[in-house]
Amino acid sequence: MKGDKRFDTQELWRRDLKHCIHPWTDFSTFKEEGSLIMAESEGAYVVDSDGQRYLDGIGGLWCVNIGYGREEMAEAISEQIRRLPYFSTFTHLITPPAASLAAKLAELAPGPLNHVFFGTGGSMANETAIRVIQFYFNRLGKENKKQIIARTDGYHGSTYLTMSLTGIGFDHIGFDIIKDFIHHIPAPNVYRRPQGMTVEEFCDQKVADLENKILELGPENVACFIAEPIMGAGGVIVPPPGYHRRTWEICKKYDVLYVSDEVVTAFGRLGEMFASEPVFKFTPDVITCAKGITSGYVPLGATIFSDEIYDVISVPQEKGCLFTHGFTYSGHAVSCAAGLKNIEIIEREDICGHVREVGPYFEERLATLLDLPIVGDVRGKDFMMCVENVANKETKELLPPEVKIGNRIAAHSQNRGLMVRPLAHLNVLSPPLILSKDQIDFIVETLRESITATMDDLVKEGLWK
Ligand SMILES: Cc1ncc(COP(=O)(O)O)c(C=O)c1O
Repeated sequence: MKGDKRFDTQELWRRDLKHCIHPWTDFSTFKEEGSLIMAESEGAYVVDSDGQRYLDGIGGLWCVNIGYGREEMAEAISEQIRRLPYFSTFTHLITPPAASLAAKLAELAPGPLNHVFFGTGGSMANETAIRVIQFYFNRLGKENKKQIIARTDGYHGSTYLTMSLTGIGFDHIGFDIIKDFIHHIPAPNVYRRPQGMTVEEFCDQKVADLENKILELGPENVACFIAEPIMGAGGVIVPPPGYHRRTWEICKKYDVLYVSDEVVTAFGRLGEMFASEPVFKFTPDVITCAKGITSGYVPLGATIFSDEIYDVISVPQEKGCLFTHGFTYSGHAVSCAAGLKNIEIIEREDICGHVREVGPYFEERLATLLDLPIVGDVRGKDFMMCVENVANKETKELLPPEVKIGNRIAAHSQNRGLMVRPLAHLNVLSPPLILSKDQIDFIVETLRESITATMDDLVKEGLWK
């Protein structure tokens, strides 16, 4: 760890403020406060440009699964750059790492999911899933199958199409979205289920929502259902037991394809390389992934299709017609080399086994925060967790958004050496998967202090009693 003031923080701060457009920015506070400049890293820690060290409870952005500072990753990446930094994968061209990573993903993905299309991130992976599904049904002569069902509070990306699949109303404010062929059904948010309803009844209702929507649109018009195994950015919503299996059965019944968006959940976060089959007991037709595929060291995303889909899309078309989907950086050699090394590390160190062992401890320890008057819910699984802050635990009523409760708690945590992600009234935790139990204790103790300090502030400011 260095933290030796090698960076001119003020100058970097000024450059950023003047020239960088940040994703998901609140310009009102950004223009006053500017950015925290993260400059170095090691293991589960990041260090800012002034040398302040933080335990990274965010895992970069749900992605640094193997942790920071892996020499092996640096070597694999630099070796590939020296050998061949880039070559196209268009038409009949490929590079050794792209071919090997495709085969490796096919080996890891469930059953018939054997065909991989590479992009550069999660949005592109979902965009690819939808384009290819449209193409698939067109080729089958089922041109009417165009409607897509997604879920309120689902997050699928930030391109025009994937933001339209996204069901977080807040994310749509001020931007245009596609409305004519994308439909949202309610999220299976157990914490917010109607009073007096059992979890089983709630699950029945959420499953019925999908079937009713398919019937309303007409099964002959519905192409696919897209869902995250655990909804991430929408609030770490863990579905009731059986939900995925049952929604998948509904999809099968009506010839609707199931796209499992595993951009966050794949590569160990839930203790498995892919969560759909081993954790949630269903085999989707398409899995999309990104983030943990390289642990964020370089950008990469992948869309993995079933044999059934591949067998249709790969039938040669009329002479001269191509499968016209692809990006300059599809299967980028350096990204694929990083992906291979990253997966090798996850397997060799049995990081999935570590998550399965330590994840329940994380869940248990974090749940102890429920004794705090402002903590309404602690939920999630393994290394994908969240704390929901409320004004009133009985009614589950929220504090007004302008209180920025999530930001306040995150700021107190940051002052104590812990990065947690504020998401409106929530604080999300998706740390590197290599955390020890001591580091988990640090997260929980720091959060307790930070939430307590925040409650004191709210009382002092007359915002909460
Ligand atoms: C479930 C899910 N899908 C898709 C995306 C989009 O991925 P990217 O930001 O790499 O485009 C994200 C990003 O957080 C995500 O959480």
